[in-house]
Amino acid sequence: MPQDEDDEITASEITPKEVYLNRREFMAASAAAAAAAAFPELSGAESHGNTPLKIEKRSDYAEKEPPTTYKDAAGYNNFYEFSTGKEDVAALSKDLRVRPWTVSLEGLIKKPKVYDIDSLIKMFPLEERIYRMRCVEGWSMVIPWVGFALDGLIKLSEPDSKAKFVEFTTLHDPAQMPGQRREVLQWPYVEGLRLDEALHPLTILSMGMYGETLPNQNGAPLRLVVPWKYGFKSIKSIVKIRLTEQMPITSWMQAGPSEYGFYANVNPEVDHPRWSQARERRVGEFMKRKTLMFNGYAGQVASLYSGMDLRKNF
Ligand code: MTE
Repeated sequence: MPQDEDDEITASEITPKEVYLNRREFMAASAAAAAAAAFPELSGAESHGNTPLKIEKRSDYAEKEPPTTYKDAAGYNNFYEFSTGKEDVAALSKDLRVRPWTVSLEGLIKKPKVYDIDSLIKMFPLEERIYRMRCVEGWSMVIPWVGFALDGLIKLSEPDSKAKFVEFTTLHDPAQMPGQRREVLQWPYVEGLRLDEALHPLTILSMGMYGETLPNQNGAPLRLVVPWKYGFKSIKSIVKIRLTEQMPITSWMQAGPSEYGFYANVNPEVDHPRWSQARERRVGEFMKRKTLMFNGYAGQVASLYSGMDLRKNF
């Protein structure tokens, strides 16, 4: 029987009562978590031990779907600077020093500047954006990020007319980041966007999630979030943003050029050479679901790629 034909009556008839009751409790808990994540200031959302952030702007970008639990979002992470084991990252990153921290804006801009993280965070009103996130490995989450659109910061730096790309770089500090003592990737981690992608209103810099500052394992103190691309584009713990004329060589392109392209747009029709990208598993759910073109954001971003062969520009 297809999953979505399952309803409460059938479930109570065919499922042992204890399991069924647990499922109902689970669903009630998920709904409460979703409401708390979406409106932390209204519902008195539970604290997760990070500093609460003041959300100043209601967002137009909120998924209707319930967010992934905080436990999963902060406990199942890709952050190779610490470990390739997703469940090890939280413990290994807990002592990362995220203050003082600076982010350098440089390259083909008229106003290069080194920003202190706290002054940077105060420059733009904070907004909550509930985004679907799809990892290239086939799992996905729904995360209530806190941040602001990247375009404001880029425009403030006054890009030269030659600037075509934006390159982002993560902190390089093997003393604090044990994964950087091994050559799993070329360090520091580098990612990149075309300038028009970086200026797209969906692209944000995030310093928080679930109403609080980012836990280290999710990329504190500042990370990129690009919801229509595979998760690896959303680079963590950024120290440098550089505008360039040439397309940046990203860490993943360098590691496996036939597997990881520069664009990395979520595309169920273009398989990874070693696995299909047609379906995904939401962390916390059992059944897989269909992956959507551009991760469901086609209406907003498809025009950025009109006329491009998305099989070649994967
Ligand atoms: N950024 C850095 N610096 N190092 C990484 O290993 N992993 C990427 C991305 N950003 C990664 C990174 C990958 S593969 C994914 S799926 C997301 O971070 C995971 O983000 P999350 O842990 O907040 O879910």
